[in-house]
Amino acid sequence: MSIRIARTTLTALALASLAATAAAQGGDKIKVGLMLPFSGTYAALGVAIENGFKLYVQEQGGKLGGREIEYVKVDDESDPAKATDNVNKLIKRDNVDVIVGTVHSGVAMAMAKAAKESGTLLIIPNAGADAVTGPMCAPNIFRSSFSNWQPAYAMGVVAAKEGKKTAITLTWKYAAGDESVNGFKEGFEKNGGKVVKQLTLPFPNVEFQALLTEIAAAKPDAVYSFMAGGGAVKLVKDYAAAGLNKSIPLYGPGFLTDGTLDAQGDTAQGMLTTLHYADGLNTPKDNAFRAAYAQAFKLQPDVYSVQGYDAAQMLGAGLAATKGDFGKKAELSAAIQKAKIDSPRGAFTMSRAHNPVQDMYLRKVEGKENKVVGVAVKALADPARGCRM
Ligand code: PHB
Repeated sequence: MSIRIARTTLTALALASLAATAAAQGGDKIKVGLMLPFSGTYAALGVAIENGFKLYVQEQGGKLGGREIEYVKVDDESDPAKATDNVNKLIKRDNVDVIVGTVHSGVAMAMAKAAKESGTLLIIPNAGADAVTGPMCAPNIFRSSFSNWQPAYAMGVVAAKEGKKTAITLTWKYAAGDESVNGFKEGFEKNGGKVVKQLTLPFPNVEFQALLTEIAAAKPDAVYSFMAGGGAVKLVKDYAAAGLNKSIPLYGPGFLTDGTLDAQGDTAQGMLTTLHYADGLNTPKDNAFRAAYAQAFKLQPDVYSVQGYDAAQMLGAGLAATKGDFGKKAELSAAIQKAKIDSPRGAFTMSRAHNPVQDMYLRKVEGKENKVVGVAVKALADPARGCRM
């Protein structure tokens, strides 16, 4: 009996010490909390981000910083009212090492607040909320995507260069729409244009008819819209059905036509948008990414898949420096900040506020592609207004 107890105790001790060694060497699995929309108007965006993230991890043999990855998934439904509870489940109940999410700016701001309080590493693979790399910036918060200001500002510059003098904006009424309009206005008005009216509707409503009637009556030179996912599909189709696409160009950040062209069909032909990704870049990195993505998921990649892929690259860069140790927070953060990310969009670096400094492409819809036409603004950095870091 006593021998058996001794043996059990020894086994327990041996196991405990093995576990401790494994943890110290970073041998246990990394817990990645994927907080993304898997339902609602942004559902396809969430799936593309998850696919992109997992593709990079697979290419690394399933490991980052020498450690295997385990995923915990939460459908955030793009609902800001549920965001704090959802992110706290990941941080407090599931004890994740890192959070990757999300798409919707309102949800992302609640996540950034929770991450700032807990110190958990957060990598945002889409949501452009200016505040996250502005007043809310923090050593443990990074973005692999864009700020709402970036593609919007670039489109303002392009619209003015196209000779447009007046524009009406039409967006969802939440942070992303508001900030996108502000960015466009800044680029457009600095170059001689004037935003004459700002139309909005609540997220995720898609009843555009009354607003399109108002636009038809006002006859601006151009319309600028922030819409994405299911809402972008519906707007572009309704705009064409109303015949407006023949007389007043519909501009926007590239979300208006990215990942949506199959559903928009002919209605999007010829549209000009600006974004940090495009079809037809024809670089070795992008060609390899697109082939691997298509093979793995039987789907064409889009900007969201690229942002998911690059979120994993950023995490990998940080963990390579700490050999998989999340405890070395300063080293982890410094390594991500200094990394040059070999993105399918083109290599990018991080601003001091942890947002990509990147080229904004001008794209034109041709068939099922957002074909690159040129670079609208080179190496554009978000101004990071209000970030003290
Ligand atoms: C946002 O809420 O920041 C957002 C959502 C969808 C997009 C882009 C930005 O495609």
